[in-house]
This record gives sequence, C-alpha cells and structure tokens, in this order.
Amino acid sequence: MKYNVLVLGSGGREHAFVWSLKKEHKIEKIYCAPGNGGTADIAINVSLDINNPKEVLGFVNKNNIDLTVVGPEAPLEKGIVDYFKENNKKIFGPTRFAAQLETSKFFAREILKKCNVRQPDFYLCNNKDDILKVKNDIGLPFVIKVDGLAAGKGVYVCLNENEFDEAIDNIYVKNMFGSASDKILIEECLFGEELSVFAICDGLDFKILNTAQDHKRIFDEDKGPNTGGMGAYSPTPLSSKELIEKVKNNIYQPVLKYLSENKTPFSGFLYAGLMLVNNVPYVIEFNVRMGDPETQVVLPLLESSLFELLYSTVNSKLHDVDIKVSSNAALTVVLASEGYPNEYLKGQRITLKNKSLLFHAGTKKIDGDYFVNGGRVLNVVGIGKNLNEAKNNAYNEISNVVFEGKYFRNDIGLKGLNYNRMEDCDD
Ligand code: AMP
Ligand code: GLY
Repeated sequence: MKYNVLVLGSGGREHAFVWSLKKEHKIEKIYCAPGNGGTADIAINVSLDINNPKEVLGFVNKNNIDLTVVGPEAPLEKGIVDYFKENNKKIFGPTRFAAQLETSKFFAREILKKCNVRQPDFYLCNNKDDILKVKNDIGLPFVIKVDGLAAGKGVYVCLNENEFDEAIDNIYVKNMFGSASDKILIEECLFGEELSVFAICDGLDFKILNTAQDHKRIFDEDKGPNTGGMGAYSPTPLSSKELIEKVKNNIYQPVLKYLSENKTPFSGFLYAGLMLVNNVPYVIEFNVRMGDPETQVVLPLLESSLFELLYSTVNSKLHDVDIKVSSNAALTVVLASEGYPNEYLKGQRITLKNKSLLFHAGTKKIDGDYFVNGGRVLNVVGIGKNLNEAKNNAYNEISNVVFEGKYFRNDIGLKGLNYNRMEDCDD
C-alpha cells in the first residue's frame, strides 16, 4: 500500500520533515501546508489555514491523506488532533489537553511536581502584586515566565533590577502577551549547561531520537535579543549514555506513565529543554513538537524511516520499531535576513550555488526563482564524523548562498567544541 502524507507548517523544520519522508518508498504523495520555497521543490505546497482544523480536515478528506503531521504548536493548541480523532483521521501530535505540557508552563510544572521530577522551585502569580510579593520573599535572581504561548519571547531571566523592570514593563505596560500572561510563573534561577532531548512517544512507549543544542540569541557569544534559534548541532557532547538513562528513567518515563494512567496519554514529539546542575538534569521546559532549527540536525542523523516511526506512533505500535541513529555529527547555521528578530528585509532574490544539504525556511518560489519571505531564511547543514568536521562543512557552504542582507552567527558549535576540550583535559 502507498500512503499520502500532509505536513503542516512552513519552516526549516517542515522542509526537513518532508525531505526525510521523501526517502520512504511507501509514500505516494507529500503535501505541505503552507510550505516554503524548499518544500515546493519536493512536495506539493497547498495554501491552507493550518490553525483551522475544519479547513485542514476538508483537504485531508478530499485528497485521501493517510497521515497528517503537525509541525508547530499553534494547531495543537487549537485542538486539531482532537478534531481529527473525532473524525477518525490519523494525525501525528498530542491532544489539546496533553499539549498543555507546552501551552501552559504552570500545567507542565504541576505534572512534573506530581511525578517527582527535578525542576526549579516555582510560584504562580496572577498579577503584578503577586510578583512583587514573591520578589520580596525570595529576592533576585529569578525567572519570570508568561504561562501561555509567547513565540519564544515570554521568558525573562532577571538577574538584576533592570531586567526585572523590563519584564514587568513588557508584560503589564506594553501588554505584549495578551491573555497568555493572565498567569505568570516565577521560577528559581538555575545555573548550568543546557541541552535539548528529543523523543517520540505513542502514549506509554517512547524512543529518544537524539540530543541537540540550540543558539537562541541573535549575536555571537549569546548576545542580543532571543530569536527562534540561529543554529544548532547534534548530538551535544554533554549527552553521555548515563545521562540519557537518567533522562529516560527520571523524566520521560514518570511523566508519560502519569499522563497515561490519567487517561490523557501523550502521543507525539516531546522535546525536553534541560539544565544540568552538577550533572543532574532539571527540566527547564517541555515542547510538544520538534525544535526549529534542531530538527534540521536531528533528522539528517536518523537512519530509521521517519514515516515508519510516525505511522507506528499514531497506531500505538512504536514498541515494534527500532530506532537507528548515525554516529555522525550534524550542525546547522541559520541564514537570517538583516534586522531579524525585529523588522527585516524581505523580497530579495536568492542565488543558490550550494551542493550540500540546505533546508529552506522563510523563502518562496516564484517562476523558478527563490525570494526571501521570512526572518530566518535558510539553514545550511554540515554533516561530519565529529562536531568540528560538521561545523567546517556547514560554514564552508555559506558563501554559496547569496542574498542581500544575509546575516548569520559565526560561533555555532563553539560551546560544544569547548565541552569536548574540557573533557579531553579531564582525561
Ligand atoms: P525557554 O523559552 O523556556 O526555553 O527559556 C529560554 C531560556 O531561558 C532557556 O533556554 C534558559 O536559558 C533560560 N531559562 C528558562 N528557565 C530558567 C530557569 N528556571 N533557570 C535558569 N534559566 C532559565
Ligand atoms: N529552537 C527552539 C524551539 O524550537 O523551540
């Protein structure tokens, strides 16, 4: 039997999904909604409002889609998975209830508390007065988090009064987050090394896909405002076998078991943002989807069929599938358009001379040419035997991608190389 698949989203993550699914001979047609210039080359782009479950289901019914794969979190919050299930259609992703692991930071903290998972101390606040009371009690530093979805902008690490005032100003004076900031979380500020772990889960069973490290700030040395992510590499040298065992046994297993026993099983990708404090992993956050740009380095290292993994997950048969991951390293550098993450140049023509792996993000294709259509434009990907080789391979490709206002960080992967050096010194 051949299958038709629909991928929802328009970023580098979704181009990487489509690229990975393309390798599967069991697939007949791949659609991407709305897609980008890169997915236009290898899939059929369709213009759909992906936050409108009814519109998406209409397309799925009309085009005999066998599996829909949700890329970003917004359609999950809209309940697209619940709606598809009510209509007996296969869709990969968590229900609206389970997606609260990402869509409500307080929900995630409460679940973690019930499961005795290590996490920072936290306090729920409903208004500015509550925040001031907590500040009076525990003092700075702490982290202020908007409870709801905030496009990666709702977290303020407040080390000093200025940073605290800026957070309060953005939340209560500029009202930047609307109802997402009806609830606020204050968290103990942890200090340590960060890593991301990616797992695929079918309710109770789960498999670790790989680990990665993102680079969230716009400028080198982690300076400047936060972005969606300016580059990533996989795996991170921080992820020893022992650490992964700890993460599986002390984080994923109890949380998935708890949700399953409560008749609200979690199915989909579960991405844990962790901080290692004295080698003990603490949960900083959960995301209920793959990361972008982390997917662009995790999927090129996946040797198993992505389709098999997704399809067995929606059929609750993940247990039957083996997961194979290459021992190589991958690194991606995001090529952004000047001005991003604020206002940026748009509409420039892109010239591509590269021969290696390249995932499109904010691009569109018109009459055979590519044009800039978003802040994060393209992801060059380097693969190598180790992180250093992957880094060199990625950076060597950048000059083959030309567009006006091309901006990228020069230090993607340096942290990882430094961890390696520190380990070498320990030996
Ligand atoms: P998030 O958007 O939740 O990934 O948070 C953005 C960044 O804020 C994280 O990558 C961490 O560097 C930092 N952060 C979030 N929560 C904490 C915490 N409790 N302690 C220290 N840093 C944190
Ligand atoms: N790169 C961070 C994220 O996808 O949330």
